[in-house]
Amino acid sequence: MTTSKLWLVVPAAGIGQRMRAECPKQYLRIDSRFILDITLSRLLDSAPFAGCMVALNAADHWWPDTEASTDSRIQTCTGGAERSDSVRAALLALAEQVADDDWVLVHDAARPCVHPGDLVKLVETLSDHPVGGLLAAPVADTLKKAGRGANPEVVETVDRGRLWRALTPQMFRYAALVDALARAQESGQAVTDESSAMEFSGNMPLLVEGRPDNIKVTVPADLDLAGFILSRF
Ligand code: CTP
Ligand code: MG
Repeated sequence: MTTSKLWLVVPAAGIGQRMRAECPKQYLRIDSRFILDITLSRLLDSAPFAGCMVALNAADHWWPDTEASTDSRIQTCTGGAERSDSVRAALLALAEQVADDDWVLVHDAARPCVHPGDLVKLVETLSDHPVGGLLAAPVADTLKKAGRGANPEVVETVDRGRLWRALTPQMFRYAALVDALARAQESGQAVTDESSAMEFSGNMPLLVEGRPDNIKVTVPADLDLAGFILSRF
């Protein structure tokens, strides 16, 4: 493993609109545990993190009921309107504790199925890398580009040969990531993950192949799927 310190940043400030549940999806339960607790314990159990910052929604009132809220390694801060705002808030909240070169792993609260082996693979693969990178999975399906309209027709079959799905954790050096996210925001560049901010600043993050079952719980059907995946390991 790397000699630089590792920090964990977990954006958990979303409202889970697509899940259409009565609470944000990170507070839905799988086998009686909150998704957020499952995610955090899987991460913290398998890497020697120096600390962990979780970004919560300003209106969150579920956090005190989590197992994680009693874990002294875990700190919280208030997130923002977009995922990238929540990540920036968490990075800012760590500022006094981190060194510029420390590694930060950013992981979605909504990905409870992240596998310990993938986490170790990511950290070991990137420990000497100048930029950092992310877990990702090659696209398996044939891809179609759709025309415009409500009932779109196929315009083109896209070559999937070099296309990957971006997963998390995404691992970058603290100062470089803070700088890249600030630059992207100043330029009005929409960034849906840390890698795109780093790319926007001219870096080439490394794709580290991870398990395709590291799903982001997004729509109701994903809940059963995540439960099944978690029951297997
Ligand atoms: N997230 C966040 N702050 C936001 C938006 C999202 O911290 N303003 C977090 C979510 O809590 C989630 C992760 O980023 O863990 C990935 O986002 P997504 O899957 O889109 O979650 P939601 O935004 O909550 O869901 P939806 O887009 O369906 O509303
Ligand atoms: Mg969202």
